[in-house]
Amino acid sequence: RVPYYLDCDTGIDDALAVAYLLAAAADESNGIEIVGIGSVSGNVSASVGAHNTLDLIALSGRDDIPVAVGAHDPQVGSFRGGAPHVHGANGIGDVAIAKSVSSVVDGESAEQMLVRLAHEHEGELRVIAIGPLTNIAAALRLDPALPGLVKELTLMGGAANVPGNITPVAEANIANDADAAAEVFAADWFITMVPLDVTMPNVFLEHHREALIESGRPVAVALGHMLDYYFEFYVGVYGHRASALHDPLAVAVALGEVGLKTAPVVRVLVDHTDGPGRGQTICDLRGMYNGFPEQSGAHARVVLELDDDFAPTLLAKLLTA
Ligand code: BDR
Ligand code: CA
Repeated sequence: RVPYYLDCDTGIDDALAVAYLLAAAADESNGIEIVGIGSVSGNVSASVGAHNTLDLIALSGRDDIPVAVGAHDPQVGSFRGGAPHVHGANGIGDVAIAKSVSSVVDGESAEQMLVRLAHEHEGELRVIAIGPLTNIAAALRLDPALPGLVKELTLMGGAANVPGNITPVAEANIANDADAAAEVFAADWFITMVPLDVTMPNVFLEHHREALIESGRPVAVALGHMLDYYFEFYVGVYGHRASALHDPLAVAVALGEVGLKTAPVVRVLVDHTDGPGRGQTICDLRGMYNGFPEQSGAHARVVLELDDDFAPTLLAKLLTA
């Protein structure tokens, strides 16, 4: 089976992504195995995020997926308390779900787990990162051979042709550790970047949320209640109740479950200076008038447009979760 490692900062849309990946793995015909999940500070601290992830896994009826705690602080500076105004004080919209009886991995950090898994599944491991890139950069430092061991890295982050969501130019996952992101984009591996360009226009609306709750399935119901909180934050963004589908879309792209209409492979640099551009993903899209001719040194596929609306695909998957 194809091995996947997920790195996350669970978070409401991370919760959607975890449930999506678990549902995909539960379908034997997909041939997917989740070999490990790492937690990083972002929406919540790495420790709180790890416990949210464990609880969601338990709610999905699984107890066999190792969850390791990764970096609490970004490469430079300290964790600044997350985003309770977006994700709630507990990271999952202040919804209470049953505590898992499983514990986080003892004696191995997320970056150590990633390096070990990359060796155990040499050339096969698919990495999905849906939080700040601190653990991924730490793993690169631990083992600079990592890019040659990993099959591909798909990440939710950045803004190519649209504004940022935390500064005028920066997206939260990149901005929360711009130094780590710059290292990850500079390393020699194939990256698929799922930026705000595609995650902002793909949204859940009230009828999707209601369908989750009406399903009566424990995970789907919990996600529906979490989305109630997330929708309120997005009223200030879209002008109505909705939520961007950032992290589950990255999982869908990694699994090949959405069609990519425009996704050129281009050079991407991350601004990690201390100026107003900090956290910006500078994507070389100058080929856009010319069918994006091949660029030397380019190794990041930037997803700019999908074939179809992603919400129905996500809803269908979550209704099986
Ligand atoms: C990203 O930032 C986090 O708040 C979300 O979970 C997502 O990964 C969107 O900018
Ligand atoms: Ca996230």
